[in-house]
Amino acid sequence: MTKVPKIIINYKTYEQSTGSKALKLSQYAQEVTDETGIEIAIAPQAVNLAQICEAVDVPVYAQHIDPITPGGHTGSYLPEALIETGISGSLINHSEKRLTLADIDAVVEIIRKNNLTSILCTNNIKTSAACASFEPDYIAIEPPELIGSGVAVSQANPEIVENSVEAIHNVNKDIKVLCGAGISTSDDLVSAMELGADGVLLASGIIKAEDQKQAMLELVDKV
Ligand code: G3P
Repeated sequence: MTKVPKIIINYKTYEQSTGSKALKLSQYAQEVTDETGIEIAIAPQAVNLAQICEAVDVPVYAQHIDPITPGGHTGSYLPEALIETGISGSLINHSEKRLTLADIDAVVEIIRKNNLTSILCTNNIKTSAACASFEPDYIAIEPPELIGSGVAVSQANPEIVENSVEAIHNVNKDIKVLCGAGISTSDDLVSAMELGADGVLLASGIIKAEDQKQAMLELVDKV
């Protein structure tokens, strides 16, 4: 494999990646990064960000940022509050947290203004091409129907990866592309890279594994 893959584990809100288990999983990501030299980035729940950013050196991303300013937004998190935890950036518009176009634009701008990394999630080739106009750092293409299925997008629907990479780069060659949904093995990762992706975004294949650290080691085995 010529390129070093960008690997991000999205913790979502699984019981196995919450609270003290989120901290343990983050320590595994650090250990695998240190032992293999392949960086495993992570996206814990907001409530665990400060503690985890303090505990590990691997990039920590928020799963979502609310495009709000200080004031009456009960139950939301101020972007500045999340940024203060030490995050390296954020996922945006994940299929489980969809935003309007105006909000996507606002959040990408907030992240850019703070010199952090934006990872904009899309669901197909058309939305990938459209989202490229917001100039995020990454676009993560994830067909929702494969999320959590254990059937890797790079194996089950290689065209969506290959054609999204082309559609995105027709708009802006600088945008890096991740693919996600069902990714769990090193073969899935190698296939994604061969299809032109710069890395993967994954969740259940690692989080729900019997041995989460071993699952991470196996994921990067063929890198
Ligand atoms: O953000 C990545 C996630 O949506 C993929 O889920 O469980 O199919 O790896 P999973």
